[in-house]
Amino acid sequence: MKKIIRITAATTSVLFFAAMTGIPVLAQSSQKTTGDKKPLPSEVMKIAQKSCVKCHIDGGMGGLKFTEWDNYTPEKQTAKAKAMCNAVSDKIMPPKNFLKKNPEAAPTDADIKTICDWSASLQPAQK
Ligand code: HEC
Repeated sequence: MKKIIRITAATTSVLFFAAMTGIPVLAQSSQKTTGDKKPLPSEVMKIAQKSCVKCHIDGGMGGLKFTEWDNYTPEKQTAKAKAMCNAVSDKIMPPKNFLKKNPEAAPTDADIKTICDWSASLQPAQK
């Protein structure tokens, strides 16, 4: 009996949540932000499209998946943005052997700056 109540409660809250957030739940990157969440800015999206998506969409390599970006918590988005800045600055990403075959995917210095400026803008203010 208890179990049925619990299941009913869970189902109701899921439906309620879906109604609140507005279906379709999986719609891509509407510019609406919830809380402190930040959708990928279009200039970062463009660089990612050129240099990163081959491995960071469905593969989700290294735990970074741009298609899931809007579902990340603000803390996770901030941490991932920082990791992206570090990875491109240190030329760890995109991987060298990938760039050998896809030289056109190399981020330019301007691209790297765009990612790092964006990342910096997400970091909590220094006190
Ligand atoms: C050829 C495939 C490939 C491409 C292209 C690529 N990555 Fe990666 N990335 C990987 C793999 C594989 C890992 C996991 C590496 C590891 O765990 O050692 C990774 C890991 C990462 C990580 C660490 C994950 C984390 O959450 O800390 C970041 C950040 C990252 N990539 C950012 C980027 C960015 C930004 C680009 C585009 C500029 C990019 N990657 C392009 C394959 C790729």
